[in-house]
Amino acid sequence: MKVLVATQKPFAKVAVDGIRKILEEAGHEVALLEKYEAQADLVAAVADAEALIIRSDKVTEEVLAAAGKLKIVVRAGAGVDNVDLEAATKHGVVVMNTPGQNSNAVAELAIAMMIFMSRTQFTPATGSEISGKTLGIQAFGNVGRLVGAKAKALGMKVKAIDPFLPAEKIVEGGAEPAESLEALYAGSDFVSIHIPATPETIGSIGYKLITSMPKGATLVNTARKEVIDEAGLEKALAEREDLKYVADVAPDNYAELKEKFGLRVFATPKKMGAQTAEANINAGLAAARQIADFFATGNTRFQVNK
Ligand code: 3PG
Repeated sequence: MKVLVATQKPFAKVAVDGIRKILEEAGHEVALLEKYEAQADLVAAVADAEALIIRSDKVTEEVLAAAGKLKIVVRAGAGVDNVDLEAATKHGVVVMNTPGQNSNAVAELAIAMMIFMSRTQFTPATGSEISGKTLGIQAFGNVGRLVGAKAKALGMKVKAIDPFLPAEKIVEGGAEPAESLEALYAGSDFVSIHIPATPETIGSIGYKLITSMPKGATLVNTARKEVIDEAGLEKALAEREDLKYVADVAPDNYAELKEKFGLRVFATPKKMGAQTAEANINAGLAAARQIADFFATGNTRFQVNK
């Protein structure tokens, strides 16, 4: 089978070599499309692909329609908001992710961002320490749990909430369950967001939640920019001169936010939470193994469009 690895933001070479080894040893052929500039390049490259490995690359109806032989797409990572799942199902294509494989990298970035903002973006201005502060974790999945464990080790008090987890599971994961999302925001010096971008979550964090945070609080978003109501964030930062926002991937109004709020905001130019060699290896090789297994045995364990 022909497996296309299409990554606008490429994997580390060591991960690409590992992917190639797994798939070639299983008798498949590997093609590479890296750092492509236009969506049309992906549309052209999928024409003869039977399997596709992607990162945040967009698998749209147009891509699926052009990929007449495609059987499986594996998103090497967690979020599948970049894949049109309904269209994939319609075209008979199995979509999988590789949950947990890049979580540690994202969790480390969330911690790093908290310290970076507490130390006023590494400028000489007097900062503050995260030890002794309260961290609220919004969604206690693979990343959220790792952030909690690391924060506890750094002396933080950790609270969490997750719409899909009962309180006892949050306790088992080492955090104190928050009574509600509102209570989490109102009682946390830092809130770290770990929700996916779905129709229910897009634009769901705005002025009301953000301004309910205590004095000097920081909102940390290593999830998706889309979950923030950007106008609400801007209004909150304008009204509350003590609040800070840090994100992995800039909001659309970042230039404006930066100009108005300076060191109180920071965003990475390109999503880099999962951009470590370890995460690339873990997620990339898991994707390759899942494809080899799917073709060998029909295993669909990580299918997300069932
Ligand atoms: C994910 O959903 O796994 C992360 O956001 C990583 O995305 P990336 O592979 O584009 O870095």
